[in-house]
Amino acid sequence: MKIIGEPHAMQGLAEELRGQGRKIALVPTMGCLHEGHLSLMREGKKRADTLVVSVFVNPTQFGPQEDLGAYPRDFEQDKSFMQEVGVDWVFCPTDKGMYPDGYQTYLTVEEVTQNLCGRSRPTHFRGVATVVTKLFHIVKPHFALFGKKDFQQLVVIRRMVEDLNLDIEIVGCPIVREPDGLAMSSRNKYLSPDERKEALALRKALDRARDLYRNGERSAQVLVDEAHRILGLHPCIRADYVSLCDTGTLTDVETIEGETVMAIAAFAGNTRLIDNCVLTDLGKEGI
Ligand code: PAF
Repeated sequence: MKIIGEPHAMQGLAEELRGQGRKIALVPTMGCLHEGHLSLMREGKKRADTLVVSVFVNPTQFGPQEDLGAYPRDFEQDKSFMQEVGVDWVFCPTDKGMYPDGYQTYLTVEEVTQNLCGRSRPTHFRGVATVVTKLFHIVKPHFALFGKKDFQQLVVIRRMVEDLNLDIEIVGCPIVREPDGLAMSSRNKYLSPDERKEALALRKALDRARDLYRNGERSAQVLVDEAHRILGLHPCIRADYVSLCDTGTLTDVETIEGETVMAIAAFAGNTRLIDNCVLTDLGKEGI
């Protein structure tokens, strides 16, 4: 496994690999890797002959009041995980390397960024779309892999790739969970023991909605109210949103008819967690 920090050097390497006819898979990450990231890497290895993982805590996707400074970082552990999976190249640029003095170009995906996390994190997806586009131009991947836990992020990136005619296959991979059901996230590290226990409320709320859906309930309001009731039973948990949305447009639905995602964001103490379940997918992969 080799490490590369300079965007120009990475671009040169990608060009060389492409010249040799090699297929490149990219797993973009912000480090502090866990099993969820490793599952993306394993999938990337299956699809391509060179696996590049980017490790970059992207400042432009954090709002002014968010946790950029405190975002967990552990590059030594990340390296040993990546070595185990068989990553070929790690691309870890500096902030200045990605956003040099005078930087002023950003990408906005207009509609699918408005609802859900876009409401409480209004500049987040502009930062994500910008950095992912830059990573695509630097690493020149044939495939890029993203987790479905960040459901809205995946929709935004698919939209952007389609709208900009980017010749990259976006692969969405299933949510990886802790044995008790909590969706894996780098931010789980922030949770106190009590918050960690109560964080399971998100999964419980999704499970309850799934059961109601399976029993024939199709009113979004009924499912949302029930999810809020369950979140409300946990004193450490404060809901940001519970929404039922069309999986393509991410607009709220009143009645569950087409493919619908139930998405939740909630604070456990000061830590913002997200989770989701595509209700109409239940037979296919469960949650
Ligand atoms: O999902 C993440 O970790 C980040 O949003 C990403 C895609 C690496 C962009 O910084």
